[in-house]
Amino acid sequence: MTENSTKHKVFKNSDDITAFIAEEIKALSESSSPKTIALSGGSTPKAIFRLLAKDFGDTINWQNLHFFWVDERCVPHSSPESNYGVAHELLFSKVAIPEQNIHPVNGEKLPEEEAKRYSAEIAHSVTLRNGIPQFDLILLGMGTDGHTASIFPPEIELINAPETCVVGTNPESKQKRISLSGTAINNAEQIYFIVTGAGKKEIVSDIFNQKNNFKEYPASFIIPKHGKLQWLLDEPATPL
Ligand code: 6PG
Repeated sequence: MTENSTKHKVFKNSDDITAFIAEEIKALSESSSPKTIALSGGSTPKAIFRLLAKDFGDTINWQNLHFFWVDERCVPHSSPESNYGVAHELLFSKVAIPEQNIHPVNGEKLPEEEAKRYSAEIAHSVTLRNGIPQFDLILLGMGTDGHTASIFPPEIELINAPETCVVGTNPESKQKRISLSGTAINNAEQIYFIVTGAGKKEIVSDIFNQKNNFKEYPASFIIPKHGKLQWLLDEPATPL
């Protein structure tokens, strides 16, 4: 990236990334004030949820952390597709975190209405910076098409939407999703892109080197305004 040198950290494997993130969340929980974390969905975060539940239940100061979602599929929480449902099953049902510290999206409401409601809930619960919510930590994934959150290439304009939450559409399944806009994501204090597997190496290379179709990838436009961004890659996802 011209304006921001793309900072990345290479790990031997995804387990090492999982351990790193768990320690980051533990450190955040030890801060003197409550911290806000926005979680992505998909498969990558599942290992983080499992490790936190298995080894960090008693060492993390859970009442000091508030969890939100970067994006959520417009499905019931009971659906296996629900990002909240997965996080609840693997983590939140297993640790002593106050219920009011978990801020799920309601996947069953009208998407446009829920995007507005969730934007308001975030505005009420997350510190604002320049009038925009500033999450303390955002964990992002990236699809093999360069999407991030639920901002897909055909709707790349959602990166610059003024709203905190927008309605995205999975171009293949046409599934509606509630997603943080790039405006909200780029206002965060700390962003980690967690990208693993050889299938994403080419896209990572395009983004890091600003080549080929990088401008079509929403992930290319995650450029924090004030905070820090680090790509956490395993070796297979790391360009030579
Ligand atoms: C979602 C995610 C999405 C995810 C990427 C990567 O709800 O699906 O938020 O943006 O981070 O699709 O998914 P994997 O971790 O499964 O590769």
